[in-house]
Amino acid sequence: MIGIDKLGCYVPKTVLPLTTLAQARGVDSNKYTQGIGQREMAMVSHNEDVVTMACEAAHTILDDHDKASIDMVLFATETGIDYSKAASIYALDLLGLPSNTRAIELKQACYASTGAMFLAMDYVRSHPTKKVLVLSSDIAWYGFENSGEVTQGAGAIAMLISMNPRLGSINEGLKAVRNEKDFYRPIFSKVPLVDGKLSIGLYQDMLKEVEDHQSRRYTCFHLPFANMANKANRMLTYPMDEAHLNIVKELGSVVGNIYNGSLYLSLISVLLHAKEDLKDETIGMFAYGSGAMAEFFTITLNENYQEGINKTSLNQLLEGRQALSMDDYIELMQHYELKEYASDIDLSHYVKPYQTFVHESTTHGHRNYKKVK
Ligand code: HMG
Repeated sequence: MIGIDKLGCYVPKTVLPLTTLAQARGVDSNKYTQGIGQREMAMVSHNEDVVTMACEAAHTILDDHDKASIDMVLFATETGIDYSKAASIYALDLLGLPSNTRAIELKQACYASTGAMFLAMDYVRSHPTKKVLVLSSDIAWYGFENSGEVTQGAGAIAMLISMNPRLGSINEGLKAVRNEKDFYRPIFSKVPLVDGKLSIGLYQDMLKEVEDHQSRRYTCFHLPFANMANKANRMLTYPMDEAHLNIVKELGSVVGNIYNGSLYLSLISVLLHAKEDLKDETIGMFAYGSGAMAEFFTITLNENYQEGINKTSLNQLLEGRQALSMDDYIELMQHYELKEYASDIDLSHYVKPYQTFVHESTTHGHRNYKKVK
């Protein structure tokens, strides 16, 4: 058996309530909270980026024994910070992982995390004593005042892939790829170019193409916004009832789109909020990445699946989050754009008490990170 040994997550502590955004944009707030289904979206603070978020997620699950057995770090992101150097090199250094480790970055919109997970499984199959750390970290930023603005978010997932996994084993299903223009970010653009309606239609078509027509209590989805779960559920041969559907999308509705990590955030939502004992449960998983790539697979949870997650740290994630005003949000995201493209910047004075890792400065385009506790 090969699968997810441990699963960790990080979401920023600052959030924009969707009622605040609706008021500022002159939109009926029911459109955002009921139509889109989003209550809040997580926004990165001044010295967070994809590397610090990935390290925060990994830090909550890795012990010294895990670190010593990691042979490869795969970093899935569509929020790359460098065209050449992999974000995994920065992460490996910050996490104190062994130096005889492969470190690579992967990209295919929101699908790269799932692609990386399957590559990791093949690697473990041929190196059974080794583990692979798959990191997924993204900042979904569409810019101000456009229809994508309500579907933003930020966060990271860390998965340790191994033989005899504690959380659950992964079962391969069907996959499909098409060359499409629904959502892409050419190198000249700071934000994605999006045809929202086309993207929703493609997502639904490709789900229909790859789903496995089995009845299950839970199917988790890639969730660009919470109510995409309702649209996806309707495409299944055996849709979930409303109570189970609400559990699948609960975390997404207060975090937003975290791109590569979004499907796994939906899984964490089930692990945290399910009323049933999930031992031996098989959960459907639908991955979608624009452009477009889709895959339907399942995870069968083990008897001791609770050992594969750190419930305390997951519950702490959503405690004490700070609601941003519209002015705070504008300042924060203007700062984000400035610092992402700055060749030199000092961010050392922004450290917050809850942070373990910070992007301290950039010098001549090189990011300097620090573990602060
Ligand atoms: P929009 O045009 O602003 O919204 O775009 P709308 O007019 O379609 O309305 C949204 C919903 O609110 C509708 O419900 C309305 O009826 C309802 P639906 O028909 O869908 O069930 N509504 C109301 N409800 C209550 N009270 C009201 C009210 N008014 C309207 N007063 C869209 C929405 C999601 C398209 C836009 O935000 C967008 O383009 N987002 C970015 C793209 C996206 O998220 N696509 C999703 C699929 S693609 C994907 O998942 C990949 C992705 O993650 C990228 C990657 O792979 O890297 C995005």
